[in-house]
Amino acid sequence: MTYLIKDAQTHDLKKIAACHIAAFPDSLTSKLGIEFISNMFKWYLSGSNKFLFWIEGNNQCIGYCGGYVMDGSDAYGASSGMTQFGFNSAIKAMLLRPWLFFHPEVISKYKFILTNLKRRVKKILGFTPDKPIVLKAQTLNTNNELQAGLVIIGVSPQLHKKGIGSLLQVEFEKRATQQKATLLSLSVRRLNDKAISSYKRNGWEIKADEGPSYLMTKKIANNLK
Ligand SMILES: CC(C)(COP(=O)(O)OP(=O)(O)OC[C@H]1O[C@@H](n2cnc3c(N)ncnc32)[C@H](O)[C@@H]1OP(=O)(O)O)[C@@H](O)C(=O)NCCC(=O)NCCS
Repeated sequence: MTYLIKDAQTHDLKKIAACHIAAFPDSLTSKLGIEFISNMFKWYLSGSNKFLFWIEGNNQCIGYCGGYVMDGSDAYGASSGMTQFGFNSAIKAMLLRPWLFFHPEVISKYKFILTNLKRRVKKILGFTPDKPIVLKAQTLNTNNELQAGLVIIGVSPQLHKKGIGSLLQVEFEKRATQQKATLLSLSVRRLNDKAISSYKRNGWEIKADEGPSYLMTKKIANNLK
């Protein structure tokens, strides 16, 4: 079967958000709902170094992938960038579902949440954004290669193990190559066996152990340099 990969547009984000909820049913982002996720995903549409693409099947999203090239143009990393975009809808969603204040991801990420709350307040008060950050993956990149981060990937659960995840990874690599990246990186929960074996099958290697997650990288030859 051939699948058509499409660039995400604003009007596609709700469909992609629904696929995200199906792929990550227990995550905090999914519990916060479609409105929040689609606002959060607007981050990918906010700069030419970012990309979000998806596969349509039966008028629904069956798989999606997003990433960005770490070219120094972002004030924050991907998680904070997305949080800033989804901030207002996250507050609204949390107030409507107060039990989420006790969600394990909220408890484990309270520092991250506080940092983003401060950034938000600074923005509202008109302060200039922080200087571009150096990401953890970049500090491990001793050759100063231009890196592309695979931030998110998901496939509808009923369509796992059909090669769609691999197809999305190939497309991610193509986009990264077009943007002159030579190193790909991602972070994956160490208990996520399915994803880790899919990444390994596609040439990614574990580069660092970061507690609950692994940093995985893949070098790519880039003849477009
Ligand atoms: C991680 C995830 C995206 C992988 O998606 P996937 O489509 O199942 O992954 P793959 O493309 O690697 O699947 C390959 C499998 O399909 C099989 N396959 C069947 N047809 C195929 C084809 N035409 N081409 C390639 N593989 C095919 C392969 O043999 C392989 O099976 P194996 O694992 O038994 O060897 C998916 O599990 C997912 O959405 N998980 C939830 C979200 C998530 O955890 N995301 C990652 C966060 S870091």
